[in-house]
Amino acid sequence: MITPVLLCGGAGTRLWPISRKSFPKQFVPLTGEQSLFAASAARLTGPDYAAPVVVTGSDFRFIVTEQLLAAGIDPGTVLIEPSARNTAPAVLAAALMLAQTDPDALMLVAPSDHAISDPAVFRATVARAVPAAKAGRIVTFGISPTHAETGYGWLELSATAGADAVPLSRFVEKPDAAAAARMLEAGHFLWNAGIFLFTAATFVAAARTHAPDLMAPVEAALRQAQPDLGFLRLDPAAWDAVPSISVDYAVMERADNLSVVAYDAGWNDLGGWDAVAREMGTDADGVAVAGAVTAIDCHDTLLRSDSDGVELVGIGLRDIIVVAMDDAVLVADRGRAQDVKIAVERLKAKG
Ligand code: GDD
Ligand code: MG
Repeated sequence: MITPVLLCGGAGTRLWPISRKSFPKQFVPLTGEQSLFAASAARLTGPDYAAPVVVTGSDFRFIVTEQLLAAGIDPGTVLIEPSARNTAPAVLAAALMLAQTDPDALMLVAPSDHAISDPAVFRATVARAVPAAKAGRIVTFGISPTHAETGYGWLELSATAGADAVPLSRFVEKPDAAAAARMLEAGHFLWNAGIFLFTAATFVAAARTHAPDLMAPVEAALRQAQPDLGFLRLDPAAWDAVPSISVDYAVMERADNLSVVAYDAGWNDLGGWDAVAREMGTDADGVAVAGAVTAIDCHDTLLRSDSDGVELVGIGLRDIIVVAMDDAVLVADRGRAQDVKIAVERLKAKG
């Protein structure tokens, strides 16, 4: 059995105005009927999968169970972080908890904000990673890179990737533009999908070696965790002392037991509105629309009305993103999609 460990504590600010502080992008139906979170949980069900461990913030605990139950999924264990400390502490808390009952428990750590086009192919890929994970490897999933992306981790292959897991010689998290260009050019690199398979004991051992400062506070937060209305709330005082760091920097860049299984059957991390537009599907002119929208002579443009009351009309637009809601409208140049993050910081500063 594999226990899905679903991380869903992120803020998703680059998808403002649909993604909000109290309701971030993973809980919104962005590209289909289901929210990204519900779809992430649904794709990790079936005979090989146990009920999930969901790690999330206090504000999202009711959304999480509501969406899981609505999708007919056993909510499993919902671990509540008193505050966001990035992904390494979240994964470690889940690993320590699972190791209490079974150190050999296989955990599939997955983000909750990605689009995966073929869940069956994805599960078959995970199955191919199981032998290596059982043998004590940390298995990553590698995507063939298409451009010199600086927002991802890059995986350096030590051999040609095939059907089975192959060892990695290096993991480079969020390189600068020059390093990303070199890795793209070199050819024997894949993108890290942000999905990992390992046993609870493998991860705890890796954290003990590579991120020892996380161990004591996360262990204390779990030991003193309080059951709360069916959730398990990590102890706030112990959690206060937990450093904030991603699993990629804390463990992956430092570990020497990494492997990779190639995955090329449709992955999109929906990291910005341009990526969402690709996932929504575009017409022959490259135009993606959703909601009450009329597009006249537009090209390579996203027009989305997520408000019942807003009729959105675009005329003669090129490379533009428009997302309209009841209380906010985003209009941006497509090339500046990532800067939505900056706008959200400014809005926050305004109060
Ligand atoms: N529980 C919890 N707590 N979840 C969190 C937290 C936290 O403090 N911070 C982030 N998450 C969740 C996010 O909601 C997301 O589902 C997942 O963890 C990954 O976090 P991101 O913040 O989206 O990571 P990233 O996109 O910068 O980078 C990761 O993913 C890339 C692929 O999309 C890395 O693993 C990269 O190496 C990888 O290429
Ligand atoms: Mg991400």
